[in-house]
Amino acid sequence: MDKNSPIALFDSGVGGLTIAKEIINEFPNEKIIYFGDTAHLPYGPRNQSEVRGFVMDIIEYFHSLKAKMIIIACNTATAAGLREVQEVFDTPIIGPIEPGVGEGVLATKNKRIGVIATEGTIASGAYQNSLKRVGPDLEVFAKACPEFIPLVEEGELYTLKAKKVAQRYLVPLREEGIDTLILGCTHFPYLGKIISEVMGEGVELIYPGKSIALKVKNLLKEENILQENKLEVNNKFYVSDLNRVSQNFVELGKDFLGFKELDFEELDLWSYKAKVNRGETLIQP
Ligand code: DGL
Repeated sequence: MDKNSPIALFDSGVGGLTIAKEIINEFPNEKIIYFGDTAHLPYGPRNQSEVRGFVMDIIEYFHSLKAKMIIIACNTATAAGLREVQEVFDTPIIGPIEPGVGEGVLATKNKRIGVIATEGTIASGAYQNSLKRVGPDLEVFAKACPEFIPLVEEGELYTLKAKKVAQRYLVPLREEGIDTLILGCTHFPYLGKIISEVMGEGVELIYPGKSIALKVKNLLKEENILQENKLEVNNKFYVSDLNRVSQNFVELGKDFLGFKELDFEELDLWSYKAKVNRGETLIQP
Protein backbone atom coordinates (compact mmCIF):
# COMPACT_ATOMS: atom_id res chain seq x y z
CA MET A 1 0.00 0.00 0.00
CA ASP A 2 1.13 3.47 -0.89
CA LYS A 3 1.36 6.61 1.27
CA ASN A 4 -0.10 8.66 -1.60
CA SER A 5 -3.23 6.54 -1.88
CA PRO A 6 -6.51 8.00 -0.60
CA ILE A 7 -8.51 7.33 2.56
CA ALA A 8 -12.05 6.42 1.46
CA LEU A 9 -15.27 6.69 3.45
CA PHE A 10 -18.91 6.07 2.70
CA ASP A 11 -22.41 6.36 4.13
CA SER A 12 -25.93 6.13 2.74
CA GLY A 13 -26.02 9.94 2.54
CA VAL A 14 -24.57 12.95 4.31
CA GLY A 15 -24.27 11.33 7.76
CA GLY A 16 -20.76 10.00 7.21
CA LEU A 17 -19.52 13.55 6.64
CA THR A 18 -19.57 13.92 10.43
CA ILE A 19 -16.74 11.35 10.44
CA ALA A 20 -15.12 12.74 7.27
CA LYS A 21 -14.84 16.09 9.08
CA GLU A 22 -12.73 14.55 11.88
CA ILE A 23 -10.57 12.73 9.34
CA ILE A 24 -10.00 15.87 7.27
CA ASN A 25 -9.10 17.87 10.39
CA GLU A 26 -6.74 15.20 11.67
CA PHE A 27 -5.09 14.44 8.32
CA PRO A 28 -4.86 17.61 6.23
CA ASN A 29 -2.25 15.99 3.94
CA GLU A 30 -4.30 12.91 3.09
CA LYS A 31 -6.53 12.73 0.05
CA ILE A 32 -10.10 11.90 1.12
CA ILE A 33 -12.73 10.28 -1.07
CA TYR A 34 -16.28 10.34 0.25
CA PHE A 35 -19.20 8.47 -1.25
CA GLY A 36 -22.83 9.01 -0.16
CA ASP A 37 -25.14 6.35 -1.55
CA THR A 38 -28.12 8.69 -1.86
CA ALA A 39 -29.68 6.49 -4.56
CA HIS A 40 -30.29 3.81 -1.89
CA LEU A 41 -30.87 6.06 1.14
CA PRO A 42 -32.12 5.23 3.73
CA TYR A 43 -30.29 2.02 4.57
CA GLY A 44 -32.05 1.69 7.94
CA PRO A 45 -35.30 0.01 6.77
CA ARG A 46 -33.59 -2.33 4.26
CA ASN A 47 -32.74 -5.89 5.08
CA GLN A 48 -29.21 -6.77 6.11
CA SER A 49 -28.34 -8.79 3.02
CA GLU A 50 -29.33 -5.96 0.68
CA VAL A 51 -27.24 -3.46 2.65
CA ARG A 52 -24.36 -5.95 2.72
CA GLY A 53 -24.53 -6.03 -1.10
CA PHE A 54 -24.14 -2.24 -1.28
CA VAL A 55 -21.24 -2.41 1.18
CA MET A 56 -19.46 -5.03 -0.97
CA ASP A 57 -19.97 -3.02 -4.17
CA ILE A 58 -18.79 0.27 -2.69
CA ILE A 59 -15.74 -1.27 -1.05
CA GLU A 60 -14.86 -3.10 -4.24
CA TYR A 61 -14.90 0.29 -5.97
CA PHE A 62 -12.70 1.87 -3.25
CA HIS A 63 -10.38 -1.09 -3.59
CA SER A 64 -10.11 -0.44 -7.34
CA LEU A 65 -9.01 3.13 -6.46
CA LYS A 66 -6.29 1.55 -4.29
CA ALA A 67 -7.60 3.21 -1.12
CA LYS A 68 -5.09 2.61 1.68
CA MET A 69 -7.72 2.81 4.42
CA ILE A 70 -11.51 2.41 4.25
CA ILE A 71 -13.98 3.73 6.83
CA ILE A 72 -17.56 2.55 6.80
CA ALA A 73 -18.94 5.86 8.07
CA CYS A 74 -22.37 4.28 8.59
CA ASN A 75 -23.48 2.17 11.53
CA THR A 76 -26.20 0.34 9.59
CA ALA A 77 -23.70 -0.73 6.93
CA THR A 78 -21.17 -1.68 9.63
CA ALA A 79 -23.70 -3.88 11.41
CA ALA A 80 -24.70 -5.49 8.10
CA GLY A 81 -21.33 -6.10 6.50
CA LEU A 82 -18.12 -5.02 8.29
CA ARG A 83 -17.07 -8.54 9.24
CA GLU A 84 -17.71 -9.91 5.74
CA VAL A 85 -15.73 -7.22 3.92
CA GLN A 86 -12.86 -7.52 6.41
CA GLU A 87 -12.65 -11.18 5.40
CA VAL A 88 -12.62 -10.43 1.67
CA PHE A 89 -10.31 -7.39 1.36
CA ASP A 90 -6.78 -6.93 2.65
CA THR A 91 -7.17 -3.13 2.98
CA PRO A 92 -7.77 -2.02 6.61
CA ILE A 93 -11.52 -1.41 7.02
CA ILE A 94 -13.11 0.03 10.17
CA GLY A 95 -16.56 1.16 11.29
CA PRO A 96 -17.99 3.27 14.14
CA ILE A 97 -19.62 0.61 16.34
CA GLU A 98 -16.60 -0.70 18.23
CA PRO A 99 -15.16 2.77 19.01
CA GLY A 100 -18.65 3.99 20.05
CA VAL A 101 -19.06 1.10 22.45
CA GLY A 102 -15.58 1.66 23.89
CA GLU A 103 -16.27 5.34 24.56
CA GLY A 104 -19.74 4.66 25.96
CA VAL A 105 -18.52 2.07 28.44
CA LEU A 106 -15.82 4.44 29.69
CA ALA A 107 -18.26 7.33 30.06
CA THR A 108 -21.12 5.79 32.04
CA LYS A 109 -21.00 6.06 35.81
CA ASN A 110 -24.42 4.73 36.75
CA LYS A 111 -24.11 1.83 34.24
CA ARG A 112 -27.35 2.83 32.51
CA ILE A 113 -26.57 3.51 28.91
CA GLY A 114 -28.75 4.34 25.92
CA VAL A 115 -28.13 3.82 22.23
CA ILE A 116 -30.07 5.40 19.39
CA ALA A 117 -29.65 4.29 15.78
CA THR A 118 -31.57 3.22 12.67
CA GLU A 119 -34.06 0.39 12.85
CA GLY A 120 -31.56 -1.85 10.98
CA THR A 121 -28.76 -1.23 13.47
CA ILE A 122 -31.03 -1.70 16.50
CA ALA A 123 -32.61 -4.87 15.06
CA SER A 124 -29.14 -6.33 14.36
CA GLY A 125 -28.36 -6.11 18.09
CA ALA A 126 -24.81 -5.04 17.18
CA TYR A 127 -24.58 -2.31 19.85
CA GLN A 128 -26.53 -4.15 22.52
CA ASN A 129 -24.43 -7.33 22.17
CA SER A 130 -21.15 -5.52 22.03
CA LEU A 131 -22.00 -3.32 25.05
CA LYS A 132 -22.98 -6.39 27.07
CA ARG A 133 -19.76 -8.14 26.06
CA VAL A 134 -17.56 -5.24 27.14
CA GLY A 135 -19.62 -4.29 30.22
CA PRO A 136 -21.69 -7.27 31.42
CA ASP A 137 -23.10 -5.22 34.32
CA LEU A 138 -24.57 -2.52 32.04
CA GLU A 139 -28.27 -1.87 31.57
CA VAL A 140 -28.72 -1.05 27.88
CA PHE A 141 -31.69 0.91 26.49
CA ALA A 142 -31.89 0.81 22.69
CA LYS A 143 -34.19 2.90 20.54
CA ALA A 144 -34.59 3.15 16.77
CA CYS A 145 -34.99 6.77 15.58
CA PRO A 146 -35.57 6.46 11.80
CA GLU A 147 -37.27 9.85 11.36
CA PHE A 148 -34.03 11.61 12.27
CA ILE A 149 -32.44 10.55 8.97
CA PRO A 150 -34.76 12.40 6.52
CA LEU A 151 -34.75 15.42 8.86
CA VAL A 152 -30.98 15.65 8.54
CA GLU A 153 -30.90 14.95 4.81
CA GLU A 154 -33.37 17.80 4.30
CA GLY A 155 -31.37 20.17 6.47
CA GLU A 156 -33.93 20.29 9.32
CA LEU A 157 -31.18 20.53 11.89
CA TYR A 158 -32.60 23.14 14.25
CA THR A 159 -36.34 23.27 13.47
CA LEU A 160 -39.35 22.89 15.73
CA LYS A 161 -40.35 19.81 13.76
CA ALA A 162 -36.98 18.20 14.57
CA LYS A 163 -37.35 19.12 18.24
CA LYS A 164 -40.80 17.49 18.39
CA VAL A 165 -39.54 14.27 16.82
CA ALA A 166 -36.61 14.26 19.25
CA GLN A 167 -38.98 14.68 22.21
CA ARG A 168 -41.14 11.81 21.06
CA TYR A 169 -38.17 9.48 20.69
CA LEU A 170 -36.04 10.59 23.59
CA VAL A 171 -38.23 11.51 26.55
CA PRO A 172 -38.90 7.80 27.33
CA LEU A 173 -35.14 7.15 27.22
CA ARG A 174 -34.47 10.08 29.54
CA GLU A 175 -37.02 8.63 31.96
CA GLU A 176 -34.96 5.43 32.19
CA GLY A 177 -32.32 7.46 34.04
CA ILE A 178 -29.47 6.83 31.61
CA ASP A 179 -26.35 8.99 32.05
CA THR A 180 -24.81 8.21 28.64
CA LEU A 181 -26.34 8.14 25.17
CA ILE A 182 -24.48 6.68 22.19
CA LEU A 183 -25.40 8.32 18.88
CA GLY A 184 -25.26 5.09 16.88
CA CYS A 185 -25.99 6.69 13.52
CA THR A 186 -23.66 9.08 11.75
CA HIS A 187 -26.56 11.38 10.87
CA PHE A 188 -27.35 12.11 14.51
CA PRO A 189 -24.50 14.46 15.50
CA TYR A 190 -26.13 17.11 13.27
CA LEU A 191 -29.05 16.98 15.71
CA GLY A 192 -26.73 17.02 18.73
CA LYS A 193 -27.96 20.38 19.97
CA ILE A 194 -31.61 19.29 19.97
CA ILE A 195 -30.79 15.85 21.36
CA SER A 196 -28.87 17.32 24.26
CA GLU A 197 -31.63 19.86 24.98
CA VAL A 198 -34.11 17.00 25.29
CA MET A 199 -31.82 14.68 27.27
CA GLY A 200 -30.64 17.41 29.69
CA GLU A 201 -27.24 18.23 31.10
CA GLY A 202 -26.78 15.03 33.08
CA VAL A 203 -26.57 12.86 29.96
CA GLU A 204 -23.31 12.61 28.04
CA LEU A 205 -23.66 12.18 24.27
CA ILE A 206 -21.15 9.83 22.68
CA TYR A 207 -20.11 10.23 19.11
CA PRO A 208 -17.02 8.29 18.08
CA GLY A 209 -15.69 10.60 15.30
CA LYS A 210 -12.51 11.52 17.18
CA SER A 211 -11.73 8.01 18.34
CA ILE A 212 -12.12 6.77 14.76
CA ALA A 213 -9.58 9.38 13.64
CA LEU A 214 -7.20 8.16 16.34
CA LYS A 215 -7.68 4.58 15.28
CA VAL A 216 -6.97 5.53 11.66
CA LYS A 217 -3.79 7.29 12.75
CA ASN A 218 -2.54 4.25 14.66
CA LEU A 219 -3.29 1.93 11.74
CA LEU A 220 -1.59 4.20 9.19
CA LYS A 221 1.46 4.50 11.45
CA GLU A 222 1.62 0.75 12.02
CA GLU A 223 1.57 0.15 8.26
CA ASN A 224 3.97 3.05 7.70
CA ILE A 225 1.60 4.71 5.22
CA LEU A 226 0.78 7.95 7.05
CA GLN A 227 1.29 10.88 4.68
CA GLU A 228 3.56 13.32 6.48
CA ASN A 229 4.53 15.53 3.53
CA LYS A 230 2.62 18.76 3.12
CA LEU A 231 0.48 18.30 0.03
CA GLU A 232 -2.21 20.18 -1.83
CA VAL A 233 -5.04 17.67 -1.61
CA ASN A 234 -8.10 17.61 -3.76
CA ASN A 235 -10.75 15.82 -1.71
CA LYS A 236 -13.71 14.34 -3.57
CA PHE A 237 -17.31 14.12 -2.44
CA TYR A 238 -19.43 11.78 -4.55
CA VAL A 239 -23.08 10.82 -4.28
CA SER A 240 -24.90 8.15 -6.26
CA ASP A 241 -27.89 10.46 -6.96
CA LEU A 242 -27.26 14.19 -7.02
CA ASN A 243 -30.99 14.97 -7.23
CA ARG A 244 -31.38 13.63 -3.73
CA VAL A 245 -28.98 16.12 -2.15
CA SER A 246 -30.87 18.98 -0.55
CA GLN A 247 -29.50 22.48 -1.07
CA ASN A 248 -30.86 23.36 2.33
CA PHE A 249 -28.66 20.66 3.87
CA VAL A 250 -25.61 21.84 1.89
CA GLU A 251 -25.97 25.37 3.29
CA LEU A 252 -26.43 24.36 6.93
CA GLY A 253 -24.28 21.24 6.78
CA LYS A 254 -21.31 23.19 5.42
CA ASP A 255 -21.33 25.47 8.47
CA PHE A 256 -21.87 22.60 10.87
CA LEU A 257 -18.92 20.71 9.38
CA GLY A 258 -16.73 23.80 9.13
CA PHE A 259 -16.14 23.24 5.39
CA LYS A 260 -15.59 26.26 3.14
CA GLU A 261 -17.20 24.45 0.23
CA LEU A 262 -19.27 21.31 -0.07
CA ASP A 263 -19.52 20.35 -3.72
CA PHE A 264 -20.91 16.95 -4.56
CA GLU A 265 -20.35 15.17 -7.86
CA GLU A 266 -22.59 12.40 -9.08
CA LEU A 267 -21.07 8.95 -9.40
CA ASP A 268 -23.57 6.33 -10.46
CA LEU A 269 -21.46 3.49 -9.16
CA TRP A 270 -23.79 0.72 -10.29
CA SER A 271 -24.08 1.77 -13.90
CA TYR A 272 -20.31 2.39 -13.93
CA LYS A 273 -19.78 -1.16 -12.68
CA ALA A 274 -22.22 -2.58 -15.23
CA LYS A 275 -20.27 -0.88 -18.03
CA VAL A 276 -16.96 -2.22 -16.67
CA ASN A 277 -18.51 -5.70 -16.53
CA ARG A 278 -19.57 -5.36 -20.17
CA GLY A 279 -15.93 -4.73 -21.00
CA GLU A 280 -16.30 -1.06 -21.96
CA THR A 281 -13.12 0.91 -21.38
CA LEU A 282 -13.81 3.75 -19.01
CA ILE A 283 -11.86 6.50 -17.36
CA GLN A 284 -11.77 5.90 -13.63
CA PRO A 285 -14.10 8.45 -12.02
N1 DGL B 1 -25.99 7.18 8.68
C1 DGL B 1 -26.37 5.83 8.72
C2 DGL B 1 -25.95 5.11 9.98
O1 DGL B 1 -24.99 5.51 10.61
C3 DGL B 1 -27.69 5.34 8.19
C4 DGL B 1 -28.85 6.18 7.81
C5 DGL B 1 -29.79 5.44 6.89
O2 DGL B 1 -29.49 5.39 5.70
O3 DGL B 1 -30.82 4.88 7.34
O4 DGL B 1 -26.52 4.13 10.35
